[in-house]
Amino acid sequence: MIGLTPALGWNSWNAFGLTVNDQKVRVAAKTMTDKLSAHGWTYVNMDDGWEAEFRTAAGEITPNKKFPDMKGLTDYVHSLGLKVGIYSSPGPQTCGGYLGSWQHEEQDAKTYGTWGIDYLKYDWCSYSQVTTSNPNLDDMKRPYQVMRVALDKISRDIMFSFCQYGMGDVWKWGAEIGGNSWRSTGDIEDTWSSMAGIGFKQTEDGPYAQPGHFNDPDMLVVGKVGWGDNQHNTRLSPDEQYTHISLWSLLSAPLLIGCDMGKLDKFTINLLTNDEVLAIDQDALGKSAQQLVKTDDYQLWFKDLEDGGKAVGIFNTSDKYQTIAINRNENGLAGYTKIRDVWQQKYIIADKNNYTAKVAPHGVVLVKFSK
Ligand code: GLA
Repeated sequence: MIGLTPALGWNSWNAFGLTVNDQKVRVAAKTMTDKLSAHGWTYVNMDDGWEAEFRTAAGEITPNKKFPDMKGLTDYVHSLGLKVGIYSSPGPQTCGGYLGSWQHEEQDAKTYGTWGIDYLKYDWCSYSQVTTSNPNLDDMKRPYQVMRVALDKISRDIMFSFCQYGMGDVWKWGAEIGGNSWRSTGDIEDTWSSMAGIGFKQTEDGPYAQPGHFNDPDMLVVGKVGWGDNQHNTRLSPDEQYTHISLWSLLSAPLLIGCDMGKLDKFTINLLTNDEVLAIDQDALGKSAQQLVKTDDYQLWFKDLEDGGKAVGIFNTSDKYQTIAINRNENGLAGYTKIRDVWQQKYIIADKNNYTAKVAPHGVVLVKFSK
């Protein structure tokens, strides 16, 4: 089995949209090796926009002129010790209007194998046009099963990432048909309402997260994003970015950086290289946190960890500073005597019964309780 912990990597979409090219992918890979891979970051994923307009006479998919040598590119990424991802759709066209894998699934899987691809994001898009108008569960599963069979026929392990925005409660059947992850939502944007709207809604799918099979609340919107040629700094405030990374880690979500890696600033690097935070995302139990407390102003999310500890996200969802108390006799915390502030990487001295945190507006205090 592969993908026992959620993928840590980069994806071109939130930064470059359809303007992705060979050079931008190389820059992402080189930056990952230089600045991030020591912390576990591995995948360098091309999203939509790499495909040529037509297949060859033999029906093979080829890259467009922005990718003059796909094998050369994947060799380069592998030479840095990293892995490579690609994107397609089970429909005739991708969401960006490029060629999809419809009726060429086996051929495409073979091609990916030849290129040395390690990760496939498979995006529903125009598949709606070739299935029934009101797809039932079997109809929804079918395209993913077809590609699963195709991927199993080649002699290469490829992480399989479903992207169909959560249709048919995909979290209930994604594992059974061989998905390593499945998008549970529509597309994210770099605003508080989008990020928090998605992140704090991941309650129903939580129980389905397990090693090898994870819910995917979409890619990260930190650093310089833009979905095209004009990037801007994420519109999330620094505190909102801490919330984003903390919540995604508590959810055991794939962490796919969605920014221009050539323009990583110090703050973003710090955000992405805190080993204790990443360890929560990568915890071997593979569980998702549960939302145990929700008020108008704050939420508490609890995640069981392999070493018996509990990671707790204390999220202030309001616009004002909040002082939030955790009762250590509730929510299964009895007997957990140690409290560590995970972002700050230091132990906290707290009152026996209550632990009280002052949390910034839209911010978080991420702690780990242990015995
Ligand atoms: C959909 C997906 C995005 C991205 C684009 C590419 O919108 O949800 O993540 O892959 O397609 O066209």
